[in-house]
Amino acid sequence: MDTSLPKLDQFLAAVEAATTDGSLVRLALRMPFGADETLKSVDIKPATIRDALKLSFTFHHKTRDLTQNHPPDGAIGQLKRLIEKDFRQAFLFTTGFDLAYDAQGKQPRLKQTEATSKAPATLEHDREKARPIKAVEANWLAALGVTGADGQVLKAAGDKFRQINRYVEILGPLLKAIPPDRLKRVVDMGAGKGYLTFAVADYLCQLDRQSTDVVGVEFRQDLVDFCNRTAQDSEIGNLSFAQGTIESFDSTGADALIALHACDTATDDAIAKGIAAGAELIVVAPCCHKQIRREMEAAHQGTDLDFVTRHGIFLERQAEMVTDAMRAMILEHFGYSTKVFEFISDVHTPKNVLIVGTKTRRGKDAGALKRLEAAKAYFGIRRHHLEDALGL
Ligand SMILES: C[S@@+](CC[C@H](N)C(=O)[O-])C[C@H]1O[C@@H](n2cnc3c(N)ncnc32)[C@H](O)[C@@H]1O
Repeated sequence: MDTSLPKLDQFLAAVEAATTDGSLVRLALRMPFGADETLKSVDIKPATIRDALKLSFTFHHKTRDLTQNHPPDGAIGQLKRLIEKDFRQAFLFTTGFDLAYDAQGKQPRLKQTEATSKAPATLEHDREKARPIKAVEANWLAALGVTGADGQVLKAAGDKFRQINRYVEILGPLLKAIPPDRLKRVVDMGAGKGYLTFAVADYLCQLDRQSTDVVGVEFRQDLVDFCNRTAQDSEIGNLSFAQGTIESFDSTGADALIALHACDTATDDAIAKGIAAGAELIVVAPCCHKQIRREMEAAHQGTDLDFVTRHGIFLERQAEMVTDAMRAMILEHFGYSTKVFEFISDVHTPKNVLIVGTKTRRGKDAGALKRLEAAKAYFGIRRHHLEDALGL
């Protein structure tokens, strides 16, 4: 590298050399500052198109992607213009080294590091797998530690990224099916670090439904502060986080209620808040099932069911099924049609059951409560926490 050249020329010379000798893996342009405020990032890959080498530029705009393919000579000129006018950071990835160009400070800087990928680019003219949340576009993913500065998913966060997308693949169509005037507010109970809350807000923005508020409710103040800061930095206007307990949250006006892995009876409290608000949609992925487990453990000793529940693992599985099936029954009592299914492979997490309740009926179904009473008697359960939370 000729270090007497300006840093940008050194960077472009390295790109040219990597393109010529076939070591180019990809390029990434980040930290936009140009006139086009919709342009968020650009990714560039070598590709063979009609037997000729091209550099394929994907321009990620706020609501769409545009692709342009340039022969290598033209591509270097285009890259130079983009770095000068639109992006403060450029990353070159080759099979030999990574090179970062950073023009955020007074003087541009270049930093060469070990190659992230030693595998050459495939040169196939492929498309990024269609995912509702795209790594390079969702800037909040970097703050949550899912992607790096270049917008690529970090190795350790691959499962999280897949999970986030899986939730949106399931939740997205359910939310989309609710007419905008009936979906003013989505509440995420026990939001934690906000992975799902951000994903839902992002998805609604993609649908141009910013008029729907998304609120994350979380007990821990540090997480609430972090998530509110990240929402502001990411310019997701319809998203906010509130500190407090699920039990004490005023859910009035919640049209959709979600709760992902809210511990034990917190899931019941979340469902109760959704029912109280008359939410159109209630979606929960339960976590642990301690309350019913304790009741069953005490009730089954010395009974016919003891042969199952004396084994800890079977007691746990039984408690999970019974707790969640009863939640579904109670939802049905309040006019919700329910579906219970595994939403992600248990390789990623054993907490993979989703209960989806969609409000389809007005009034109450007394039959569901009768079935609940019979089931409780059979399993020796005195009270299900959801009954208490609803004052049943
Ligand atoms: C296992 S984490 C799940 C976080 C998030 N939903 C996710 O899946 O990434 C559960 C979160 O719920 C919060 N939480 C548990 N019980 C709560 C309650 N009763 N009220 C408010 N937050 C609660 C915890 O502080 C924690 O951050």
